[in-house]
Amino acid sequence: MLSKTLQKAFNEQINKEQYSAQLYLSMAAYCESLNLPGIAHWLKEQQREEIGHAMQLYKYIIERGGRVELGVIEQPSLDFKSPTALFQDVLNHERSITASINKLYEKALKENDYASQVMLHGFIKEQVEEEASASEILETLKMAGEKGQALLMLDRQLARRGMG
Ligand SMILES: [Fe+2]
Ligand SMILES: [Fe+2]
Repeated sequence: MLSKTLQKAFNEQINKEQYSAQLYLSMAAYCESLNLPGIAHWLKEQQREEIGHAMQLYKYIIERGGRVELGVIEQPSLDFKSPTALFQDVLNHERSITASINKLYEKALKENDYASQVMLHGFIKEQVEEEASASEILETLKMAGEKGQALLMLDRQLARRGMG
């Protein structure tokens, strides 16, 4: 059985994952408006992953005899200034999620809740990848700039995400 403290923390993490999904979908919509369907595709894949994370937490709370309690999902930004600024936002956001997962892990350690610790290992590993991929795209944008040709190539590259 999950403690009340951990139940609350896991529920808060569900909300953060749902907000992440909402943010990435809003970012995708912004990229569609700039005629960048490949970057929008990448962000929509990201959105689906975040929903997946929320559902993993949902399932875990229930398996541990806890109660899932959903909250309000905050409205994301609608405007992101530029693709480079957008990926800086993605990176900053993922860093804040990493910090939040780490806090959750600390709570599980404090309570000697071994099952929660093991469950969170997957999330901790996932965050390393999330930060690395956001950072890689951001660096590409910074190097190549947002000039027509370079941006078009990045858009084509990101269009292939999830297609093997
Ligand atoms: Fe996530
Ligand atoms: Fe994420």
